[in-house]
Amino acid sequence: MGSLTNSEIPIVDCAIISDGEYSLSLKDSPEFKEFATSLGNGFCQMGLVYFINHGIEESIITDCFTASKAFFELPASLKAPYTRLDQAHLRHGYAPPRGDFKEQLALAGNKMYLQSAYPSETPQLFPAMTTFIGKATTLSKKILLALGLHFGLDDAEYLIKLHSDCFDDTGSRDSWADMKTRFYHAMTDDDLATIGPDHLRLPEHPDGDTLTFLVQDEAGGLEARNGAGVYIPVPHVPGALVVNAGLSLELWTGGRIPGVLHRVQLIKEKAKEIRQSLGYFLTANGDAECDILVEQKPGWKWSDRLPVPGKKLEGFYLKEIQIIKERHYDKNDGSRSAMRYNRI
Ligand SMILES: [Fe+2]
Repeated sequence: MGSLTNSEIPIVDCAIISDGEYSLSLKDSPEFKEFATSLGNGFCQMGLVYFINHGIEESIITDCFTASKAFFELPASLKAPYTRLDQAHLRHGYAPPRGDFKEQLALAGNKMYLQSAYPSETPQLFPAMTTFIGKATTLSKKILLALGLHFGLDDAEYLIKLHSDCFDDTGSRDSWADMKTRFYHAMTDDDLATIGPDHLRLPEHPDGDTLTFLVQDEAGGLEARNGAGVYIPVPHVPGALVVNAGLSLELWTGGRIPGVLHRVQLIKEKAKEIRQSLGYFLTANGDAECDILVEQKPGWKWSDRLPVPGKKLEGFYLKEIQIIKERHYDKNDGSRSAMRYNRI
């Protein structure tokens, strides 16, 4: 663990797990134990770390960005048929701009692995995204093993078992994981004149999942709230993944790894360029039971934003979707006033 960015955000070197398939025997190697300690300590700091040497080659990321851009640059009439039809869940499909200068394509659950769920106009999107997803899921499995080891769980694979639906790439089992590609428009002077001084490109929120693996381009703008409650920039680090913890992981770890609040700030000098990001949202099975698995952090208290111990996670996910729906669809003005996540 070290610092390449002069930032307080920990950097976790994943070289030891960047190659090869998952195996439980990894946990017996002293290098893996050392990695687990670095990873666990890194995440406990503020719930957000950079991964370097993670094994997802730059060419895979470039292919995802290029294919995504080709989709987002299609005429609106060709993208419209992919608009999210499932208005109850709003998980899968295309989300057009809603006066906020950004659009998104989400692949939800087992649809990630089904070519028919991807836009046919940009056939390059399916191989690019599934290659990224394959790498991200293998990495996730090793990370969950390392966290199980770090926290001394009786069954080091317990967290992996809670996420078993995410590790089925046959498309036969659905999961609550999502893959999202986002495209923030290049804004004109006229666009910039229409927005208020408090406009955020993405409002403040925590993620509800376990871990989010995010790739952002050079445009920057991502910010996260540190342990002191202060927003700090999460700058683009070439080749690095930003990995943030969600509310599910906060609960399991009794607050030791916080579900970090984050947002995308509008940087006026950069707003005239496009911004792209890719996110893989590792999410536990809907029928997994919520529980605090380790001795909780002193002073940490359960809040009703978190999953409810003793209940199935599915109910929590549905509640989160409702919150997102209200934020993005019922009163989306992109302003700080639309926020409802002012947790201390
Ligand atoms: Fe997020």
